[in-house]
Amino acid sequence: MENIVAHSVAEVIKERRTIRSFKEEPVSKELISELLEVSTWAPNHKLREPWRFIAFFDEGREVLKEAIQSVPKPESGPGAHPHKHKKRGPVPCQIVVVMEDRDQVKEYEEDYAATCALIQNFQLAAWEVGLGVTWVSAPFIRANEFKEKIGVKANEKVVALLNVGYPEIVPQTAGRQSIEHKLTIIDSMSK
Ligand SMILES: Cc1cc2nc3c(=O)[nH]c(=O)nc-3n(C[C@H](O)[C@H](O)[C@H](O)COP(=O)(O)O)c2cc1C
Repeated sequence: MENIVAHSVAEVIKERRTIRSFKEEPVSKELISELLEVSTWAPNHKLREPWRFIAFFDEGREVLKEAIQSVPKPESGPGAHPHKHKKRGPVPCQIVVVMEDRDQVKEYEEDYAATCALIQNFQLAAWEVGLGVTWVSAPFIRANEFKEKIGVKANEKVVALLNVGYPEIVPQTAGRQSIEHKLTIIDSMSK
């Protein structure tokens, strides 16, 4: 990974924004592979490394588009009215993040948490090299039609779709609440 400008971890964490509008500029497959490799250094219990990835570039993005379109649209509920969202341009690289599904709650939560840690690693490593990401959790990622069309097995779960590219627009953020609203400190035995 050349061209990395030094930033502190804290700076990258705070400056990263979810990017939903991308330049047409293509993203190198080698760079995506390197960023995913870095991301796999996420903590993961028992080193199960429960994740795998399917990356769509160029015409391959049509395969993903068709898989999304094959999912029946819900009449109501959180996945309804998909067209209320602003129509945006093409996304240069799209990555489906997959994990092994598990029946045991403990192992499921460990593996899901580890995979989410990996995704945040990816978002931060991408931001460091000038790439933006949308972490997409829309209902289609849970649909069997979608999974089958992209070769995700029945015993696997799609954790997220990551849209990746060079940012066209970096949105303003409302920021975060001050930690004093969220932090309880207990430093004595008195109640
Ligand atoms: C688990 C998870 C699911 C998300 N799903 C979506 C999504 O489906 N579509 C989307 O546009 N953004 C999605 N986001 C991005 C959040 O909306 C975003 O992080 C939030 O608005 C804060 O903005 P920031 O990332 O720029 O700080 C998701 C984020 C997380 C952690």
